Amino acid sequence: MKTPQRLALRGDLLDFTSTPGWAELDSPAVRFRPDHWLLIEDGRITGTQASEPDASWQREDHQGKLILPGFIDTHVHCPQLDVIGSYGTELLDWLNTYTFPAECRYADPAVAKRGAVRFLDALLAHGTTSAVVFPTVHKVSVEALFEAAGERGMRLITGKVLMDRHAPDGLRDDVLQAERDCIDLIDRFHAKERLAYAVTVRFAPTSTPEQLAMAGALCRADASLYMQTHVAENRSEVAWVAELFPTARSYLDVYALEGLLHERAVLAHGIWLDEEDKRQLAASGAQVAFCPSSNLFLGSGLFDWPAARAAGFQVSTASDVGGGTSLSMQRNLLDGYKVQALAGHRLTAWVALHGATRAAAEGLGLSREIGSFDAGTLADVCVWDWARGPVAEARHEVARELHEKVFAWMTLSDERNLVSAFVAGQPRYVRQSIVVPQH
Ligand code: GUN
Ligand code: ZN
Repeated sequence: MKTPQRLALRGDLLDFTSTPGWAELDSPAVRFRPDHWLLIEDGRITGTQASEPDASWQREDHQGKLILPGFIDTHVHCPQLDVIGSYGTELLDWLNTYTFPAECRYADPAVAKRGAVRFLDALLAHGTTSAVVFPTVHKVSVEALFEAAGERGMRLITGKVLMDRHAPDGLRDDVLQAERDCIDLIDRFHAKERLAYAVTVRFAPTSTPEQLAMAGALCRADASLYMQTHVAENRSEVAWVAELFPTARSYLDVYALEGLLHERAVLAHGIWLDEEDKRQLAASGAQVAFCPSSNLFLGSGLFDWPAARAAGFQVSTASDVGGGTSLSMQRNLLDGYKVQALAGHRLTAWVALHGATRAAAEGLGLSREIGSFDAGTLADVCVWDWARGPVAEARHEVARELHEKVFAWMTLSDERNLVSAFVAGQPRYVRQSIVVPQH
């Protein structure tokens, strides 16, 4: 029998065993094991221990560093790295002015391949090891993403963007061709290794009712498929959907009527939902991806997380780059804190980090694979500096309570704190130390 590959990482291990209560600073859901060894065999987590494992283990000593499950970004756009930080517009103008022209370039297979590789390596360099991703309408953009994720062993959920109206030439499909492309991509990539297909409706305004019906039929035919889209992000968008779909009760209802609202659906934003929508979301088992940096940057509005809790639907956190301004999950969580603060609520580091790890995994039905250090999960693991630079270091030194330390880390850190990222136990990002040339 082959001897297992054994890797042990030493550091301060932090993950969640369940959902932390809202505003609960001292939560039983938090599992903090300072100065422990995380044991990984053949890419899977097998346990933890306080004592140093024996020489049958390859040991990496990160004493004094923070070790977290890799982040899961539940809503991010690969081609939009090219438009991140674009000035001066709200959603609908932003799409037409910046985003659609950038996405047109992904018709070229070379652009799509280069873009996918750069994007996934950027995710890893920000501590994000799994993602639910929008490529473009072009089949090659999906192939490029799946292939690059496969090469990196990453958990990736994506699918061809469906849009057959209200988009420029070069960025529209039609129902029949789109259906053929989806079926071919599902056959080749869905449920292969760590890849899964998401029926990807850009948003209701860019699909005809016929295309939405086709998308719904794909979901009904195979309950293992994911669905991703945008919903109720911006007030002008909501008004436009009401004009385009006069018989639907609400924006969310456009999707529900076609069978697109189900357990494996990820809907980005959900800022302007009404009470009935929230009930419907909870009953469906779908999750909402809260995208705070995007919501602030595009001036979209303030997502009400406590109301989502009260209604009982799952919320995960996401960057929504390039509407969002950073792939760094910490930066997005800090923006999430500010969004909640503007509405008079307080977001704990626990609820925020749980949203970027275990909650996202649960919402995707993947908590046996990702999102925690539970034994049996794949070892998607990131090692972080607790503090970098004099300000963060001084703050870290004086922090006494665990929540205080972790909240200061979430507030003051970013991708520069990342030491290394492992995917299924393999190092996929290792920070280069700066070598000062000797003369
Ligand atoms: N709604 C439809 N498309 C998009 C997009 O690319 N980004 C965001 N933030 N919202 C959208
Ligand atoms: Zn988006």
